[in-house]
Amino acid sequence: MTILLLGSGGREHALAWKILQSKQCKNLFVAPGNAGTAEIATNVNLDILNFEEIKAFVLKENISMVVVGPEDPLVHGIYDFFKNDSQLNNIPVIGPSKVGAQLEGSKEFAKEFLIKHKIPTAAYDSFTAQTVEKGCKFLETLQPPYVLKADGLAAGKGVLIIQDLNEAKDELRNMLVHAKFGQASSKVVIEEFLDGIELSCFVLTDGKNYKILPTAKDYKRIGEGDTGLNTGGMGAVSPVPFADAVLLEKIENRILKPTIEGLQKDGIEYKGFVFIGLINVKGEPMVIEYNVRMGDPETEVVIPRLKSDLVELFQAVAYEKLNEVSLEIDERSAATIMVVSGGYPEDYEKGKQISGIENIEDSLVFHAGTKLENGKVVTNGGRVIAVTSFGNDFQEATKKSYQNIEKLHFDKMYFRKDIGLDLF
Ligand code: AMP
Ligand code: GLY
Repeated sequence: MTILLLGSGGREHALAWKILQSKQCKNLFVAPGNAGTAEIATNVNLDILNFEEIKAFVLKENISMVVVGPEDPLVHGIYDFFKNDSQLNNIPVIGPSKVGAQLEGSKEFAKEFLIKHKIPTAAYDSFTAQTVEKGCKFLETLQPPYVLKADGLAAGKGVLIIQDLNEAKDELRNMLVHAKFGQASSKVVIEEFLDGIELSCFVLTDGKNYKILPTAKDYKRIGEGDTGLNTGGMGAVSPVPFADAVLLEKIENRILKPTIEGLQKDGIEYKGFVFIGLINVKGEPMVIEYNVRMGDPETEVVIPRLKSDLVELFQAVAYEKLNEVSLEIDERSAATIMVVSGGYPEDYEKGKQISGIENIEDSLVFHAGTKLENGKVVTNGGRVIAVTSFGNDFQEATKKSYQNIEKLHFDKMYFRKDIGLDLF
């Protein structure tokens, strides 16, 4: 079959790499893709939020499955667009319906879902410009630090964690009254702060059945020792060493099962990945957030550990037969290190020539912000390349990635040298 994959990051290069290993896949298009996907598939310059443009391409190329990498097209309803179009409704879209995507698209929707289905999460309340003074009063009832979350999509920047009460009140006003995050902060969720270690869980569901993918831990801050600004993610390891059988059982019974059952009870169509950000508070897992897609760079460690045929899994998702297939997981650990442009996550330059990719041995290179310019690979984003390695443990895996990163070069290249160190 011919498959169309939407997106352009390291996540999409890893998904493309895995999809192409399936004997079910004859032809793969990636829109818009990057220099890495161009090497293995056909990039196509589509606007992934222009569903009419996608429709024309799907019909022209006889696409028989659409896999959605990022959240934006899902939140904008690409699943429903296909379902409601008589020419497209027999073509599966891997991703949730528009309502399902609200689990990521609206923090308030996610919190209401969690509370309704009795899934452990931080206590919260939500406020608008009309109730901003009530929000300030609510802050006074909490202990610092204060957690303020823009309700809508804010490119991973919409969460503020603030020590000082007055500063928290000021920021609440900035968000609600002065549109700090635009429309996304016209509503703000204020949450109780949870103290613990974070980990991410990934589930693939057909809406009824589900398969649990390997756990991963992401490193979100730009600086070593988890300091500095938040990024999309600077590296990841899988599995998470502290996620033992006891914790995993609690996660499945208290969080994963009730999530999938909740979707069914609420009549929410969902055929895709659920990415659950968790925090382990003294052995008790609690939900920090839902995402309706795979994580990036978590995909670059989770997907390489999957031995099963990903396209066959997607077919099982599409036809609600996930209960009939089994998952095979590589027992080894995987680690990925993200190489980024100097200055990221603030201003950075693009168009820097990248050298040394061809010298990397025994690791997987997943491109993120790269493009081809006159036949050369140049930087085209903040996060540039993820180098993934396997090992008997995460130490061995990270070591191999770091050895290979030494062979890469571009002007102002930066990466964190401490991925996994906190897990020793
Ligand atoms: P989110 O976009 O909801 O994942 O939030 C971004 C980051 O903020 C998370 O990865 C956590 O590190 C942190 N965070 C969010 N909510 C809380 C909370 N209730 N308590 C502590 N940290 C939080
Ligand atoms: N790495 C975090 C995310 O993909 O949201």
